Amino acid sequence: MRRKIVAGNWKMNGDLAEMEDLLGEIKNQLGSVDEEITLIVSPPFPNLYPAFQSLRETDVLIAAQNMSQHEKGAFTGEVSADMLKGVGAKAVILGHSERRSLYHETNKDLAEKVKTALNHKMNIIFCVGEELESRKQNKQVKVVKHQLEEGLFHINSKDWGHIIIAYEPVWAIGTGETASPAQAQEMHAEIRKMIAEKFTPEIAEKVSILYGGSVKPANAKEIFAKKDVDGGLIGGASLKADDFLAIANSF
Ligand code: 13P
Repeated sequence: MRRKIVAGNWKMNGDLAEMEDLLGEIKNQLGSVDEEITLIVSPPFPNLYPAFQSLRETDVLIAAQNMSQHEKGAFTGEVSADMLKGVGAKAVILGHSERRSLYHETNKDLAEKVKTALNHKMNIIFCVGEELESRKQNKQVKVVKHQLEEGLFHINSKDWGHIIIAYEPVWAIGTGETASPAQAQEMHAEIRKMIAEKFTPEIAEKVSILYGGSVKPANAKEIFAKKDVDGGLIGGASLKADDFLAIANSF
């Protein structure tokens, strides 16, 4: 059975005090979440270690929102895999559309980041997703295939245990507009097919594929009910403990 995952991408939100409050509220309600569900939170870099300390006694995992492809050296403003692991991040989000569009991360950059992360045995939440223009032209599958082929599919079969894929249609991020459950299912099934064809059906069957883009308590249930949707990568709604946990309880 595939792992069910609800991951919060906190983006650039919350100072230390606000994060402590949020984590406190999340911890208070953890008892309500089914043990089968893996919860992940992704604080900004400076808050990774305090989050790790705060979550020590829990099963909540911590992911960073980005990582350098380089090991160390003269890369001002960058953060390495070793540094992330040292402060308790077991996973990293790579290829988020905001990184791709605002910071010009290319598929080639992402392929290198994936390689570095895997060398350090980090787990990766690899994001893909088309922009509105591509969806209008019905090119979404082609776009996502290209992102996967260029950015992720160079990995070895044995590394798939470290990979989670997040399908986040750019037009649904922070817009209040969600892909319909049918649209999400269709793309998730396509992604699984791509993995089966390039690797093996067994590997494809085991990879968790999350949906992201305006997921909230009101729509999570019908999205998560789809056969190939294994959870969500949540932005705005993950900043409220009640909403985040309600989403986690939507399977
Ligand atoms: P929203 O849930 O705010 O639309 O953001 C989704 C997202 O980008 C998660 O990575």
